[in-house]
Amino acid sequence: MDNVFPVFDQILSRKEKEKMLGQRGCALWLTGLSGSGKTTLARHIEKRLAEKGCLTQILDGDNIRTGINNNLGFGKEDRQENIRRIAEVTKLFVQCGIVTINSFISPSQQMRDMARDIIGSDDFFEVFVDAPLDVCEERDVKGLYKKVRAGEIQNFTGIGAPYEAPLNPDIHVQTGKLTVDESVRHIIEVVMPRITFPASST
Ligand code: ADX
Repeated sequence: MDNVFPVFDQILSRKEKEKMLGQRGCALWLTGLSGSGKTTLARHIEKRLAEKGCLTQILDGDNIRTGINNNLGFGKEDRQENIRRIAEVTKLFVQCGIVTINSFISPSQQMRDMARDIIGSDDFFEVFVDAPLDVCEERDVKGLYKKVRAGEIQNFTGIGAPYEAPLNPDIHVQTGKLTVDESVRHIIEVVMPRITFPASST
């Protein structure tokens, strides 16, 4: 578009904002099947980080799809657009120094790579929330798997639509085997050094 003049120079730089907050922004991108534990982990991660004085923002598929993305469905193209928009929004938060916790199935490697490209590789942690389909279906927190088996929902990830496990995730938690606390502890251990300023630069 020729008549658009994007403004990237802000009054405060990202660095200055991060200094104000006493933290460095990044995105924790949780990917996994519906029912794998993404939302639960996101909430617990937020709580743990809040206890450490870190400002976070959760972006979750179920909420985002009732707001900014309420015109998108679950076909391949709409899922792609869902993730593209979320990645752009995430980038704004991250540039502001905020730690975003993203909870989206984001079923293909290509979609997650697109998110990484938009947000920036240095600011992006791909977190594989890994629970086998039978465990997710057994939990069926939202009662959706039952509806899928009854033929009421089409293109459901893991059944009527594919889920590609991450090839090389930055963090891998097996939520079928670990407790919530164990998974959260592991994630926090990996990301905390990235969020906190080195002592010399504060
Ligand atoms: S994504 O594939 O585009 O990344 P997203 O994470 O935003 O999906 O939304 C997934 C949530 O939408 C699920 O947790 C579930 O509650 C709901 N949902 C409704 N229909 C489907 C479907 N066909 N496949 C997967 N999730 C669905």
